[in-house]
Amino acid sequence: AEVVIVENAAAAGALVADEIVRLIVGRPDAVLGLATGSTPLPVYEALHGRLAGTDVSQVRGFALDEYVGIDPKHPESYRSVIAREVVEPLGLNPDQIHVPNGAIEGIEHAGPDYEAAIEAAGGVDLQILGIGTDGHIGFNEPGSSFASRTRVKTLTSQTREDNARFFDSIDQVPMHCMTQGLGTILQARHLVLLAFGEGKAQAVADAVEGPLTAMLPGSAIQLHPHATVVVDEAAASKLK
Ligand code: F6R
Repeated sequence: AEVVIVENAAAAGALVADEIVRLIVGRPDAVLGLATGSTPLPVYEALHGRLAGTDVSQVRGFALDEYVGIDPKHPESYRSVIAREVVEPLGLNPDQIHVPNGAIEGIEHAGPDYEAAIEAAGGVDLQILGIGTDGHIGFNEPGSSFASRTRVKTLTSQTREDNARFFDSIDQVPMHCMTQGLGTILQARHLVLLAFGEGKAQAVADAVEGPLTAMLPGSAIQLHPHATVVVDEAAASKLK
């Protein structure tokens, strides 16, 4: 992967937002791969001003993941988060922005349906990725196959602790998620992984320089011909 070390998260947001604007200007129906969590927020914020005056009515998007069994109207469902942080502020067409279906009823169809929707869209042009402190991308926790497709995964206790900040208590963090697989993510045409802060330094080093192993899901990016890693100094601190 190409590693770009930037001053801070805002600079990373500006850099990645510029790339996304170029993509949309060149291809008004571009397909964006959207991440949730804290890391991509500076990108979405930077896009806000930059997309003013650009026709975004045809832009399409696919979120990486969703909690299983969460009420889609819950403010921390990824459906709600994507609506609030991305679709509404950027004025995207909500009908063209997809989030995996985390409803328990019919869950056996949710993965294949999502894969089919991504394929029908012609695949993802640019996939934004964060990385978990345990090395997950999407919610592909350690042990995820590099060939995996969208499916249910069990969140590690580390991930549930990390995400407890979005809920009233850790008991409210769902146990399971529906996530694009590593194989799904690897099919995006450009991967852009962002990470900020010392807490991500080991996960970043493992992803960029670690052995290719299912136990370090982020290492899957080494298989991708066009992966860009945008990090601040702290997140880069364990790179050799
Ligand atoms: C979110 C996702 C996760 C997060 C990761 C980091 O859609 O798939 O991989 O990117 O958990 O989360 P933050 O950015 O909150 O540290």
